[in-house]
Amino acid sequence: MEIKEAIRDRHSVRQYKSDPIPEEMRTALDELIEACNKESGLHIQLITEDPECFDTLIAHYGRFTNVRNYVALVGPKSMPDLEEKCGYYGQKVVIKAQMLGLNTCWVAGTYSRGKCNADKAAGEKLVCVIAIGFGENAGAKHKSKPLSSLCDVAEEDMPAWFRTGVKAAMMAPTAVNQQKFHISLEGETPVITAGRGPMAKIDLGIVKYNFEAASGHTCR
Ligand SMILES: Cc1cc2nc3c(=O)[nH]c(=O)nc-3n(C[C@H](O)[C@H](O)[C@H](O)COP(=O)(O)O)c2cc1C
Repeated sequence: MEIKEAIRDRHSVRQYKSDPIPEEMRTALDELIEACNKESGLHIQLITEDPECFDTLIAHYGRFTNVRNYVALVGPKSMPDLEEKCGYYGQKVVIKAQMLGLNTCWVAGTYSRGKCNADKAAGEKLVCVIAIGFGENAGAKHKSKPLSSLCDVAEEDMPAWFRTGVKAAMMAPTAVNQQKFHISLEGETPVITAGRGPMAKIDLGIVKYNFEAASGHTCR
């Protein structure tokens, strides 16, 4: 599966089958996570066969069932842009998972922080998690704000690569589907900024990853 297809086909999935993640998929994800951690200084971890983290009232209230695996986004509290980095590298793992045939859901609220089995060294913080596994369904396309409210370049004036990036950004998951980001073009450089909102910094990293992966152009 091509990366652009994975971006298009990814939707949040909250109900999972019991099938464990096969060894070769686990290895592929662990290798990617190790590379992400090396590059970013984060401490992302894939935790498998641990249903406790989503076995809470709040998770059921959030309509999650049978989440047995998750990716924990952990990093140093002192890291500048910790949340944006978690968004960016977490989304890289999400898109890889989609390409492997797995489903995911970003989760910042409806899980148990206390039951999360991630390792946290002194000075590290758990930012949020991503549920991962074989979905009972493929999820559904989210409703998007119109392009004109997310980007100040008119569609007819967009270079093809920029348009591809904007479309991928619009497909990105954001907390409560808030889409509080703004895309502009300064010379040849795409610039994405975050609006105000509880998870807007995590969203910013997610949106930047989608834009870059689809367009091949680095954002500021
Ligand atoms: C940072 C972040 C936090 C999220 N937290 C939750 C959550 O606590 N519970 C939940 O059910 N969904 C959560 N979501 C999923 C969003 O509701 C979902 O991504 C959004 O509605 C868009 O839908 P889509 O992912 O299917 O495109 C979160 C998404 C993001 C990006």
